[in-house]
Amino acid sequence: MPSLPLRLSALLLALGLSACDDAPRFTKAEPGEARSGGAATVRKTDQNAFSLPSANLPPSRRVDFSVGNSFFRSPWVIAPSTTTARDGLGPLFNTNACQNCHIKDGRGHPPTPDAANAVSMLVRLSIPDAPEYARLIEQAGVVPEPVYGGQFQDMAVPGVAPEGKVRVDYTPVPVRFKDGTEVELRKPVLQITQLGYGPMHPDTRFSARVAPPMIGLGLLEAIPEEAILANAAAQAKDNKGINGRPNQVWDDALQKTVMGRFGWKAGQPNLNQQNVHAFSGDMGLTTSLRPFDDCTEAQTACKQAPNGNGPDGEPEVSDNILRLVLFYSRNLAVPARRGVNDAQVLAGKSLFFQAGCQSCHTPKYNTAANAAEPELANQVIRPYSDLLLHDMGDGLADNRTEFQASGRDWRTPPLWGIGLTQAVSGHTQFLHDGRARNLLEAVLWHGGEAQAAQQQVLSFNAEQRAALLAFLNSL
Ligand code: HEC
Ligand code: HEC
Repeated sequence: MPSLPLRLSALLLALGLSACDDAPRFTKAEPGEARSGGAATVRKTDQNAFSLPSANLPPSRRVDFSVGNSFFRSPWVIAPSTTTARDGLGPLFNTNACQNCHIKDGRGHPPTPDAANAVSMLVRLSIPDAPEYARLIEQAGVVPEPVYGGQFQDMAVPGVAPEGKVRVDYTPVPVRFKDGTEVELRKPVLQITQLGYGPMHPDTRFSARVAPPMIGLGLLEAIPEEAILANAAAQAKDNKGINGRPNQVWDDALQKTVMGRFGWKAGQPNLNQQNVHAFSGDMGLTTSLRPFDDCTEAQTACKQAPNGNGPDGEPEVSDNILRLVLFYSRNLAVPARRGVNDAQVLAGKSLFFQAGCQSCHTPKYNTAANAAEPELANQVIRPYSDLLLHDMGDGLADNRTEFQASGRDWRTPPLWGIGLTQAVSGHTQFLHDGRARNLLEAVLWHGGEAQAAQQQVLSFNAEQRAALLAFLNSL
């Protein structure tokens, strides 16, 4: 490699990257590589790094972003109230503002043992599928727990019992690298106590999930469906044990089954429906698309509690507020990468490819010309996700199906911005339930289709591990 700067070749040698294996060797950044979100990319690395609008949004369109932000950030109140635009919280809910879970527009975390409520982690519930529930399974993706519903709400308005308490304990799981280094992972053990409505169905399945970061979601929505399907086809053809599949989920507005994209199991087809379900499930707020509260027949006080509907029966969240929150959630910008030309980062990128991470964490796409907003159209973006479901093994399994996703399947999460998690969210807890306490632990939990990649990482020496982490932290 005579054209490489001397220091870089020395580093590559030290990292054991010989010229003979077939994974690409990166020696300099690609043009535009730092701009993960295309022209919408922002340059910020502090606590507000996830809270800025798309950089290419003209000033005239930033007003809607700010107003949308206020509805995402500010607390909703219990009805009836003089604050009629923001009332209707509950009767059952998890918390009173989107931002309480998507902290600083970043990710949530599992509750600490002494926490009063789980807040930024929620628990989904269901019981096993059965033929008599065919329509429910088609439209909700699951059979909700008969008394508690599809989501556990640990808060309620006065006069209505909360559903109970959520607690997470951990058991240690030791892992050993080839070089002898040991790491201890922690496996969560979920505990649901103080049940407000009697015992649950004996076969209830639980899925604990932390709030994912809110950046770049409009760009992900603008990835053409054909590009996602082409990835799935390429993985199947490659025959290397990677077999991503799109989820197929119910579209409430179109009243038919379409491709899923959002949520840890890609259980939602688009941002608007994801937001509508968040208003309903997380905060007990009705919308025109989901004009009922999240109470089951057995929860009579919940059914009878006053609502925050308008005088003509308008839902608690008006279509205009929904539109503003949608605009906001589409335009939270992705921050630029740092150190793309750093020798260690480039070596880490080579190792990322050598381990086969990119077969699921797809680096690059072009967004569609007909994206929902002009700023999101025709952008070269680098999310590092295929948005497909993968069997991730027993270690990560929640053993709960959701539409086409099995109890072992998860959607590849985008990795853009992941290196700024500490700066934005003040912690580094990763994966769907926040069990990983740092990026290395997140990688070591990979199993199933990602087992081979995990094994590669276990064979890395200390320098190689540091390089891989330097790359991830540069995203
Ligand atoms: C109680 C915590 C909580 C609250 C409150 C909350 N969310 Fe979420 N949010 C989550 C969790 C958990 C997920 C992942 C859901 C899943 O996998 O099923 C999520 C997922 C999302 C996603 C999809 C992100 C992705 O990467 O796929 C969007 C968009 C979103 N929420 C928007 C909102 C909006 C808008 C609000 C307020 C109306 C809101 N959320 C309130 C916890 C919360
Ligand atoms: C078979 C597909 C697949 C492969 C290969 C793969 N991943 Fe993942 N990755 C996933 C999925 C799916 C998740 C989410 C798992 C979960 O939350 O339970 C994930 C999660 C992650 C996370 C945590 C993201 C977050 O937001 O919490 C990181 C970091 C990560 N992967 C890095 C890597 C690295 C590095 C490699 C290569 C060594 C790799 N992945 C290989 C599918 C894959």
